[in-house]
Amino acid sequence: MDKMTVLLLFGGISTEHEVSCISAASVAEHIDPARYEVIRVGITCDGRWLLWEGGCDGIRDRSWEKAEGLPAACLLPDAGLSSLCILREGGAELRHIDRVFPVLHGIGGEDGTVQGLCRLAGIPCVGCGVASSAVCMDKAMTKAAAAQAGLSQARWLVAEPGADPSETVARVEESFEYPVFVKPANAGSSVGISKVRSREELYTALAVAAEVDPKVVIEETVIGQEVEVAVLGNRKPFASIVGEVAAQDGFYSYSGKYLDNTSGLYIPARLDADTAERVRAEAVKAYRALGCEGFSRADFFVTAEGKIIFNEINTIPGFTSISMYPKLMEASGIPFGELVDRLIALACGKEEELHG
Ligand SMILES: Nc1ncnc2c1ncn2[C@@H]1O[C@H](COP(=O)(O)OP(=O)(O)O)[C@@H](O)[C@H]1O
Ligand SMILES: [Mg+2]
Repeated sequence: MDKMTVLLLFGGISTEHEVSCISAASVAEHIDPARYEVIRVGITCDGRWLLWEGGCDGIRDRSWEKAEGLPAACLLPDAGLSSLCILREGGAELRHIDRVFPVLHGIGGEDGTVQGLCRLAGIPCVGCGVASSAVCMDKAMTKAAAAQAGLSQARWLVAEPGADPSETVARVEESFEYPVFVKPANAGSSVGISKVRSREELYTALAVAAEVDPKVVIEETVIGQEVEVAVLGNRKPFASIVGEVAAQDGFYSYSGKYLDNTSGLYIPARLDADTAERVRAEAVKAYRALGCEGFSRADFFVTAEGKIIFNEINTIPGFTSISMYPKLMEASGIPFGELVDRLIALACGKEEELHG
């Protein structure tokens, strides 16, 4: 059997660059070298694409981006070539690519841009397509699509770019009680998000969020358990068992996610069997409503009364060995290596093989 050539993309221009490198190293370690030839390209914080021929540790510890003289390597949009163009000193070399696996989080990777480039190049790309990636990246768009599908959500409002902060504050105070959550529409990993308890804090939070994205979403606080479901598949998605994040002070912040271990993970979530089943069903409903393919992690709150409130879908969830997505899949009977295999197969629509 001929080996398939997979282009693994990591790094990227978003605030989640570092997490992406750790996720990508885990994926690279779990791709079967007997079946796949893996070409690794790192995208620097300022958007340069560089070929990395070193090991996984160099991806994880980010030494790849400190290395000198790495050849530029970019995906060509030409569907007749479906190739990576590598610019070495001796000249340009074209390498045919069978699949792209973007292990990129946030802007410029999880938002439909790379997916669009793959589409133009005629190369199947692992994960969600252009539209669902873009919609799931933008919290205002996600909420509109989820509402249309009948998913329960926290009440929210949107401050469009350039909105007058005092008008926004007045709208918020008319609709909600403090505390409220203020979020940049397009971001990730809790960057630019604040939980605010007063008018003064709201003004500051609006400015902080607008630094990240001029479009800002404000929503009421949901009191409940924070739960997550890993979903895998195209038209017949499989939902994992439910996991739970117990964040400090009800806010799963950037440091809680990656730095200080203040958040506890529970697999399975501390829910009764009936509620857990309902959460899984909502995850599949959200996945379908938002047009997801390949994989995604769907996040919800469950209130004390057992109400399930949709929060968001991450189309390229964290993929480190300690991340929720691979852990939930493993706990549901799909180990990391098999997961990577399935994701690559799903990129070209081979679902029937997977679910028998
Ligand atoms: N409406 C809300 N009510 C209660 N907690 C919230 C609400 N929105 C967000 N949070 C908390 O903030 C965290 C980050 O918000 P989220 O919308 O998931 O943004 P991100 O895309 O950065 O992960 C959540 O994981 C949760 O802990
Ligand atoms: Mg989140």
